[in-house]
Amino acid sequence: MSTHSLTNKSPNLSPVHLPYDPEEYPRETSRHYISASDEDLSAMLQKVGLSRLSDLYSHLPPKKIFTEALSLPEELPYLEAAAELENISKKTNLLPSFIGDLLPAWQVHPIVSEISKLRPLSTSYTPYQPERSQGTLVTHWIYQCVLSNLTGFEAINTSLYDRSAAIFEAICCARRSRKRPGPVLLANSLFEEDISLLQTHAQGTDLEFELAPVDATSGRLDYARLEKMLNEQHGSISALVFPQVNALGLLEEVDQLSDLAMKWNIPSIAVIDPMLLATGGLKPPNRFGQHGVDFIAGEAQHLAIPPSFGGPGLGLFGSRFNDQSKKDLRNTPGRYIGKAKDSQNRDCFVMVLSTREQHIRKEKATSNVCSNQAFLATIAGANLLAKGENGLKHSLAQAMGSRKQVAEWIMQRDGIQLAFSDTPAFNDLLVSVEEDPAQLLKGARDRGIHFGIDVSSRIPGNDKKLIKLSFSDLQSEQDLTVLKEFLWDYFPASSSKKREVVPPTHLLRNKPANLPSFSHDELINYYEQLANLNISPDDGCYPLGSCTMKYNPLLNDWAAGLAGFSQAHPQAPEEDVQGPLEVLYQIQEWFKSITGLAGVTTQPVAGAQGELVGLKLFQAYHLSKGEGYRNIVLIPKSAHGTNFATAATAGYASGIVYLQANENGMIDLNDFRQKIDQHRKNLCGIMITNPNTSGIFESDFSEIADEVHKAGGLVYMDGANMNAIAGVINLSKIGVDAVHNNLHKTWTIPHGGGGPGDAIVAVSERLVDFLPGRQIRKEEDGSFRSYLPEKSIGTFHRNWGNFGHKVRAYSYLLRLGKEGVPRMSSVAVLSARYLFEVLRYHYPTLPAHAGKIPRMHEFILTLSEQDFVKLEKAGVPKSQAIPQVGKLFLDFGFHAPTVAFPEVFGLMIEPTESYTKPELDRFARAVIAIKDLIENYPIVVGSAPHFTPIDRVDEVTANRNLCLSETLTHLPSLPVNRIQPKALLALEIDEIKSRILQLHDLSI
Ligand SMILES: Cc1ncc(COP(=O)(O)O)c(C=O)c1O
Repeated sequence: MSTHSLTNKSPNLSPVHLPYDPEEYPRETSRHYISASDEDLSAMLQKVGLSRLSDLYSHLPPKKIFTEALSLPEELPYLEAAAELENISKKTNLLPSFIGDLLPAWQVHPIVSEISKLRPLSTSYTPYQPERSQGTLVTHWIYQCVLSNLTGFEAINTSLYDRSAAIFEAICCARRSRKRPGPVLLANSLFEEDISLLQTHAQGTDLEFELAPVDATSGRLDYARLEKMLNEQHGSISALVFPQVNALGLLEEVDQLSDLAMKWNIPSIAVIDPMLLATGGLKPPNRFGQHGVDFIAGEAQHLAIPPSFGGPGLGLFGSRFNDQSKKDLRNTPGRYIGKAKDSQNRDCFVMVLSTREQHIRKEKATSNVCSNQAFLATIAGANLLAKGENGLKHSLAQAMGSRKQVAEWIMQRDGIQLAFSDTPAFNDLLVSVEEDPAQLLKGARDRGIHFGIDVSSRIPGNDKKLIKLSFSDLQSEQDLTVLKEFLWDYFPASSSKKREVVPPTHLLRNKPANLPSFSHDELINYYEQLANLNISPDDGCYPLGSCTMKYNPLLNDWAAGLAGFSQAHPQAPEEDVQGPLEVLYQIQEWFKSITGLAGVTTQPVAGAQGELVGLKLFQAYHLSKGEGYRNIVLIPKSAHGTNFATAATAGYASGIVYLQANENGMIDLNDFRQKIDQHRKNLCGIMITNPNTSGIFESDFSEIADEVHKAGGLVYMDGANMNAIAGVINLSKIGVDAVHNNLHKTWTIPHGGGGPGDAIVAVSERLVDFLPGRQIRKEEDGSFRSYLPEKSIGTFHRNWGNFGHKVRAYSYLLRLGKEGVPRMSSVAVLSARYLFEVLRYHYPTLPAHAGKIPRMHEFILTLSEQDFVKLEKAGVPKSQAIPQVGKLFLDFGFHAPTVAFPEVFGLMIEPTESYTKPELDRFARAVIAIKDLIENYPIVVGSAPHFTPIDRVDEVTANRNLCLSETLTHLPSLPVNRIQPKALLALEIDEIKSRILQLHDLSI
């Protein structure tokens, strides 16, 4: 795409340079990103028997509806929003930087930004429909293979939130798998932030930690003490976690640590940086000691994107899966892609091992993670392929060259020296200084350089003043010159001779990683073909219920990529990252207004993590009142699997009490009252999805909340369905104590083939002081500063959460303004109600007795008993009927609705506000045509889909004979679309129907 310089009408704003012409994208420039015209909206309102958008909510209690406008600014015209975003981004002061630390930064190959523009890859949903998602599946397969190549681990998942979360999940997995009791031994040389996240998660659970001390003379673990600890209590240690490169940037003795764990049969978890495992780098973890470690965890964000003020991150998790070691795999968290065959024996890929996941196992799931960081895995794989063996080797060599150079300069100065110079390091450089490190870092900043990070406090009892510098392929010759000038200027010359050890060979990789290499053209062409195998909500209604597949504005992605946002390091001094802090502050304040609640945390990175934040807040609140014994969580049976899995993760596995639904699909008040009476004394709280998963507003929500509060409990609202009520219902008035907003649903963050998602949790006054992470406040001089809430429960992310997504949500809200938020929800509800009105005459609806209850943003269709019988006779058993009907939607160019959740025989449809009436009408015609096929030609249901690149996938065999990685020597060969998705969307519905029938030698 060429660059478009566009001039704003406002004389105060400078022109913006967009890499696309917004006028070419009609959805992009429509007001509030709502494509339907006023005539469309009137016609739809007429069809549902209403005259105004506000009538859509007339069945809800009027006192709960916002009566005043939200405290958001007026909406901005497109170019003014773009200029505003650019202005804020320019408030970031980007200096040559030697900060790496918690989040290393390396060059990202330009192919990443090209692939990020392939919308069917970046905006599609989790590949639950493999026949229409081979694009995403292949990209993840590539990631698994390449990471397997680097680490030597056969099973790499795609993917957990970030390094800290991956360590937590690895610990849970190790304990589940080996069933060893007792505390986990953590190296105290891990990052404090990682340890802090683990401690936050462990609160209120049976997870305990012991810290293995750091030796103040070497800067790495005290191996003698560690060995003694293991000798004394090996029987009671459930796992050992240690870093390859520690928080001071020094190399730990990984062979020794791995062998020690093995000696005592303790599962070992190594925390690694995959970038450093390329050829010329560090030893891969499968080679640590005699047998390698059992699990790996680490950060891989820097393989995919720049720092982006800390996120989206990419948690790396790996386990062994070979002839000697298979047993851990079924206990692991996260998603895997496996090789498969379709019914015509074509090679293809599919998600495997999902029987471990929350949507099936609920509180017994191996993790509560649902939306993950999938798209980062897509682009990390592409980045690694584009750099290839030589590129990565070169990057490491450049980093090491710069480091060596700077180390030599430092050895020539007085007042600064290499610290622990007898301990090997790799691409970090630890120095000790005589003056206060804060002063020194300030001095460097004044000379235009981010010199490093003060790490003095990382060795308890240490009196050295320590600064860590990190090196990568990002630092230019000129950056090094600025650094040298600073050193020469600041420190006097030294005459003494100094030296540093080089890393011994046993800590290094001894064989090439042998990554494949491809040309840029070959790769881009390949990824374009992959994109063609998927579909995107750009092109038409993507009716996946509960997932809110709305249009994702290009403006948001452009804004997130602005250097002031994407290049900002989360540990840079606050004075230099005012742009990112301003965005976080605004988002924080706007979400207070949108929810009507008192406080907000922007730290959580997905809905499920928001749920965990909520329950941990409840735990802290009860503890603060001396009521830590409250351990019962009420959850409606129809809730999303994450609610149960989250409650288990938070420590309530044995306290989950299921609530029944009444015949209208809402919480059954009698059942609720019985349960609350039974558990009053121990009630921790309740989790309610509202509107619920049947698309119905829980009209008794306030009453339920009142009773929960009277019993001393708290109320969590799963806000996955906020797209129906945002800016309309004041959550404080219905008694909500905590709610998550999924930014990847309501707030237009692309789904990325499964993630990165993002979340914002808003809380009532009761919970404000306990919020996790840091809050932002605006000072009198207009600057932004962060602070920790008084009784903060801790942290859920090593930095600021998925910051890049906060920029996207901010950009969206600039375009919506105060009027746009409720209008967005209203049109989403209108679109659903309109379709419901058209389709309910053709399909039975669920819940079976809720026919007359107005639907909100989504609704559920089902089949009649006669239809099920017909399908059974045509060879489609009842258990397969609904999933197979879903496959027919693929034939008409649409994604399938959500099948079998929350009703086993349901097709849940959520159109969102993004489509015009003609688009919705075409979709409705397709759904009606599908019904005709079921009734009159049931034979075609069993063979669906017909026009996708592959036929139905044999998931059973793929799960039985798991193949999770292989050595990549060439790019996997690809199937071809039998009819291109865009061509399907352009065909008449009757034409598609007759083509399906022709395949069966039938005619209409
Ligand atoms: C109702 C509901 N709750 C919770 C979640 C979990 O949210 P996330 O996937 O962002 O973790 C989902 C996800 O689809 C959902 O639909």
